[in-house]
Amino acid sequence: MFTALINRSTRPTEWQKIPWDDPDFSRRMLAEHLSQSHDQASRRFNIIDQHVKWIHTKVLQQQPANILDLGCGPGFYTSRFTALGHTCTGMDFSPASIDYAREHHPGSEYILGNVCELDYGGQYDLITMIYGELNAFAPKDAERIVNKAHTALKPGGKLLLEAHPYEAIYRFGQEGTSWHTAQKGLFSDEPYLCLIESRFETDCTISYYYVYAVVSGAMQQYITMHQAYTDDEYRHLLQAFERVSFYPSLTGSAKTGDLYVIVAEK
Ligand SMILES: C[S@@+](CC[C@H](N)C(=O)[O-])C[C@H]1O[C@@H](n2cnc3c(N)ncnc32)[C@H](O)[C@@H]1O
Repeated sequence: MFTALINRSTRPTEWQKIPWDDPDFSRRMLAEHLSQSHDQASRRFNIIDQHVKWIHTKVLQQQPANILDLGCGPGFYTSRFTALGHTCTGMDFSPASIDYAREHHPGSEYILGNVCELDYGGQYDLITMIYGELNAFAPKDAERIVNKAHTALKPGGKLLLEAHPYEAIYRFGQEGTSWHTAQKGLFSDEPYLCLIESRFETDCTISYYYVYAVVSGAMQQYITMHQAYTDDEYRHLLQAFERVSFYPSLTGSAKTGDLYVIVAEK
């Protein structure tokens, strides 16, 4: 049962992500998105309000736009954009998030599916990927996403990535080991112990989660990887675009934290 934990020193041979698309995991994750006591899956609504205001004024100059939100989660951004007069499509492969978005934010269109595989359609003024999700894709998938977005944008359209600076991913890899317990939570509906270890290795932070369900005695392993890019590597990834600009935050604050904003114009 503990063999995978003991052998974790080997780097996974394939890129790993947490199972956002698993129905049970996505149901539990939806509770985390909706929680207003932390910012772990989505930011709290007062912060999202600031993000939407910044994008509406600074990126869209308050002009009505056709927007595609990649990894839209439960539709917190699409619903706010729609309220400001924009037309929105949200795309996500979490079934619980898309069900929630369709039920609670019917003013936008929602597509359930993998952003690496789906056809984005075309003629968007703005395509967004918010909350660092680009770094959670294997570099070849990040390249596919960026190039598909380029194709789907109108001339002059913009791709907005809220992404992690290289140093942030490096820092995540220095967090070492930790553990916590929960009566129920993201990893299980029953009481569990979760052991976490993160390490930085060749431009990537690998985080291991070992979840021990205390009643059934089952042990579940989750691994998530985050790719680090320097500013130049982001520019290279976005080379199909005419212009690439960096901003310190999505709130308009000048202080750069674990995330910054890259706007690439077609
Ligand atoms: C950190 S959450 C952010 C959600 C939303 N952007 C927000 O800030 O509220 C990342 C989202 O990306 C979605 N996601 C991750 N990988 C995906 C994929 N390959 N295709 C579609 N959606 C994906 C997850 O289901 C999740 O909803």
